[in-house]
Amino acid sequence: MYGVRSAFLDFIDDPFVVSPTESYRYLEDGLLIVEDGKIKAFGSYDHIRTDYPEIEIIDYSQRLIIPGFVDTHVHYPQTEIIASYGEQLLQWLEKYAFPGEERFKDPLHAREVAGFFFDELARNGTTTAVVMTTVFPESTRVFFEEAQSRNIRAIAGQVMMDRNAPESLLDNPETAYHNNKDLIKEWHNRGRLCYTITPRFAITSTPEQLEVAGQLKREFPDVYVHTHLSENQEELVTVSQLFPECKDYLEVYEKAGLVGDRSIFAHGIYLSNSEFKRLSEAGSAIAFCPTSNMFIGSGLFNLKEAKSPAHPIAVGLASDVGAGTSFSMLKTMSAAYKVTQLQKQTLSPLPAFYLATLGGAKAIHLDSYIGNFQIGKESDFIVLNWQATPLMAFRHPQHSIESVEKLNEILFSLMILGDDRSIDATYIGGNLAYRKPDYMTW
Ligand code: GUN
Ligand code: ZN
Repeated sequence: MYGVRSAFLDFIDDPFVVSPTESYRYLEDGLLIVEDGKIKAFGSYDHIRTDYPEIEIIDYSQRLIIPGFVDTHVHYPQTEIIASYGEQLLQWLEKYAFPGEERFKDPLHAREVAGFFFDELARNGTTTAVVMTTVFPESTRVFFEEAQSRNIRAIAGQVMMDRNAPESLLDNPETAYHNNKDLIKEWHNRGRLCYTITPRFAITSTPEQLEVAGQLKREFPDVYVHTHLSENQEELVTVSQLFPECKDYLEVYEKAGLVGDRSIFAHGIYLSNSEFKRLSEAGSAIAFCPTSNMFIGSGLFNLKEAKSPAHPIAVGLASDVGAGTSFSMLKTMSAAYKVTQLQKQTLSPLPAFYLATLGGAKAIHLDSYIGNFQIGKESDFIVLNWQATPLMAFRHPQHSIESVEKLNEILFSLMILGDDRSIDATYIGGNLAYRKPDYMTW
């Protein structure tokens, strides 16, 4: 058992529903008690310290501690093709993503990339991720093994594709069924890991394979479904040609029984009102991937519409690396802000930090385990430094956050100027997973 003393921020409600000022807790001088990877106590330092007079206290004064970030959509095998130049979605897949994923036939390669990927998550303060692997079952197995050895929360699954991709990356409905079934039995709900059925997107699966995905979901109702939806206009045209019987993109997945309250859809840029409504009724989640959407020129996600009281949808933030350009959820928040600005909307700092923490946890139905500092939850938390660069320190020279106005300003500075340098430390399940090295401190 140990304690952590610092300023703390977490969320207890949804700032898109209640007023942002009622959605969060801020403690200028707080104490978090961690025991066996869980939160044992949390409150003001003066109040909690008297109950634990003997324990070791780690002091992070002049820092801000928040729950670990949740990345609701990312491709680990695309770590090594990040920043690939010049294409839009379908050409980018052909030119960069598919050739990159072919290398994951080799489990040694998969393990090496998985290790780097998890290190990068920790460096960026991400403690939970929803991850696409590749079509090779072994690439999924080694990914889970690496996740397990780090005790990180990961939701992942083998990608299913049986058309419109290189031959070497195709499976078929039957092998997809058996491989996924084996992996579900091996990994779903093992420690902090969960399994997700992962048809890549409508274009790369035949109706027969989507049917198999639906069958797996019926057999294992508490596993997740994770796919892409309505990201790019050329993609939409192809989907309507491949599935002429469906009135829109979402119906492709509905027909296969893949739209439910544990379904996570990346992007959702070109959704109709009816699709928003049906997603809302189903309790499905959208992963908002702003750096990716701008990088491969897909379009602007309509956050305001997704959060409309007429059809509210659970939204999480996502890096979508390798189409996304950063693992940092701070940089992702910055991009999200700009995407809303371009639509004459806005994203103030409290809702942005909500989306990256409790909002993401709710979107993936893990909010009873993670997302804030409620007693009994798993202790995933990160130490933020709002003076991590000379410019950030120049912008906010003060060493403490003493008012709500200052809190908002500092959070905004973190989301607009911050990146991996702003993460001083990352704790996963109560254990220190990353500490910023001295060479990164100016
Ligand atoms: N749609 C289908 N596959 C992918 C992918 O790998 N990345 C993105 N951004 N969109 C996709
Ligand atoms: Zn993606």
